[in-house]
Amino acid sequence: MLELTHTTKTHDESRQGEALELVPTGSSNGRKLYIESYGCQMNFSDSEIVASILMDKGYETTRDFKEADVVFINTCSIRENAEQRVRNRLKEFESAKAKNPGMVVGVLGCMAERLKAKFLEEEKLVDVVVGPDAYRDLPNLIEKVDEGGRAVNVLLSREETYADINPVRLNSNGISAFISIMRGCDNMCSFCVVPFTRGRERSRDVDSIVKEAQDLFNAGYKEVTLLGQNVDSYKYTPKVAEGEEEQPTVNFAQLLGKVAEVSPELRIRFSTSHPKDITDEVLYTMARYENICKYIHLPVQSGNSRVLELMNRTYDREWYKGRVDAIRRIIPECGISTDVITGFCTETEEEHQETLSMMDYVKYDYAYMFAYSERPGTLAAKRYADDIPEEVKKRRLTEVVDLQRAHSLYRIQNFVGKVQRVLIEGFSKRSDQDYCGRNDQNTMVVFPMDARYKVGDYVNVLGESCTSATLIGRIVD
Ligand code: SAH
Ligand code: SF4
Ligand code: F3S
Repeated sequence: MLELTHTTKTHDESRQGEALELVPTGSSNGRKLYIESYGCQMNFSDSEIVASILMDKGYETTRDFKEADVVFINTCSIRENAEQRVRNRLKEFESAKAKNPGMVVGVLGCMAERLKAKFLEEEKLVDVVVGPDAYRDLPNLIEKVDEGGRAVNVLLSREETYADINPVRLNSNGISAFISIMRGCDNMCSFCVVPFTRGRERSRDVDSIVKEAQDLFNAGYKEVTLLGQNVDSYKYTPKVAEGEEEQPTVNFAQLLGKVAEVSPELRIRFSTSHPKDITDEVLYTMARYENICKYIHLPVQSGNSRVLELMNRTYDREWYKGRVDAIRRIIPECGISTDVITGFCTETEEEHQETLSMMDYVKYDYAYMFAYSERPGTLAAKRYADDIPEEVKKRRLTEVVDLQRAHSLYRIQNFVGKVQRVLIEGFSKRSDQDYCGRNDQNTMVVFPMDARYKVGDYVNVLGESCTSATLIGRIVD
C-alpha cells in the first residue's frame, strides 16, 4: 500500500525493524531488545508500547538482531502473503539463535493472536507468543522463558488501551508521530481478520490522548496522526468518581477539535475512516481548523452494491458517493484515498467495472489495492467460495492499479502552479540538497534546501512539475 512517498502507513505488509538504539532512563539490565514490525501503523504504534514496557525493565534497544537478547517480531495476518513474509523472516533468525542459544524469540501481534499456541508447534524457534492486548505481561513471559519454558498469552481484553504507557518513539523523525486513539474493531467485514486478532472496539481516555499530543508538541513534534481501525466511531465517556457530576461523551469530531486546539502549529491527521460512520460534524470540524489536514482515507473496497453487501460493509454505492459528495461540498480541497479489493467471492466482470467507475467518479489521490486473499475463520471463508481464479483477481487488480496511476497523476498535476503549505519532514531520499515533506492532502513534495528553514518548519512551496507520486517545487516567501 503506502509507497515510499507516503509516511502515514496504515496497513501493509512492509517491514520496519530499523529502530533507534535507545538506552533506558533507569538502570540497565544489560539486555538488548530488537523489535521488527509488519502490517498497519497500529502495529508499529504497539511496538513503541512494547519497547516502553521493556525499557522500563532496563532493556536497551538495538538495530541488529544478531546482537539482541530478545528478538520480537510484531506480525500481521491481513493477507496470506503478510503471514508468509513473517515465516520467511523467522527462518533468518535461526542462525542467530543457534549462535546465541539464550536468545528469546517472540512473536507478537495479529498472527500470534490468530494462531495462538499452535505457533509454538509450527515454529520450533519461537519461545513466546503474545497477542496485542497482553503486552503488559511480556516481562513475566520472558522470565518464564529464561527459566527454560515457552510461554503464550493471547487473552484479548475489553478495556486495555495502554493509555498510561508513554510510547518510545522508535522510528520517528522527531517531527511526526502516531497516537492510538482506540483498539479493536466491532465491524464484521466478511473478508477481514482484524476483529478476530484485535478483539472488541474500545476508545482510549480522551485526556490521555490530548496530553500525549501536547507532550509531543512540547518535545518539538509538528504532526500527529490519530489511529484506529474506524476512528469515526470513537466514543469516550469520562469516568467520574461517585458523587461527581457526569461528563458528556466525547465523539470523534469533538476529539479532533480538542487535539487541534493543542496548537495551530501542530498538524493533525487521522486514519482510518469507515464510510458508514464519517459524519458531517467531522467534516465541518476539519473545515473549521486550519491545522487539521484536508485528507481523508475512505476505503471503498468495491464500487458494487451487491459485493459491498457480501462484504458486510453496511453501505452501498449510493451511500458512498453521498459521503464523497459531502466531503467535496464541505471541504472542496480535500484529498481522498481509498482501499480496493479485487476478485472478492462471486464478483462478476460487470461488478468489477463498477469499482472502476467509482474510481472515475472520485478520482482518488491515492489508493491501496489488493487481490482478495481468503483468511481462515472470517465470515467470507465460512460462507462463500473463494471462486475467482487467481489470474482473474490479478488482472482486475492490474486494471485498478493502472487507472489509479492516471488518477494520482491527475490530482498531483492540479498542484502544479499552486503554492502549498508543506511541513519539512527531512531530506529527500535522492539528494541531501533537497528537502521533502507533505502538503495538506498528503502528497509528497520535494524542493531544494534553503538554509533559512530547517526540518520541522512550515514553508510555502510552489509546485513546478510532478511525477505520479511526487510534486517538485521551490520555496516561495
Ligand atoms: N479498518 C480499515 C481497514 C483495515 S485492513 C477499514 O475498514 O477500512 C486494510 C485493508 O486491507 C482493507 O481496507 C482492505 O482493503 C484490505 N484487506 C483486508 N482484508 C483483506 C483480505 N482478506 N484480502 C485482501 N485485502 C484485504
Ligand atoms: Fe476489518 Fe472492516 Fe474492521 Fe476495517 S472496519 S478492520 S475492514 S472489520
Ligand atoms: Fe494491522 Fe495486520 Fe493486524 S493490518 S490490525 S497488523 S492483521
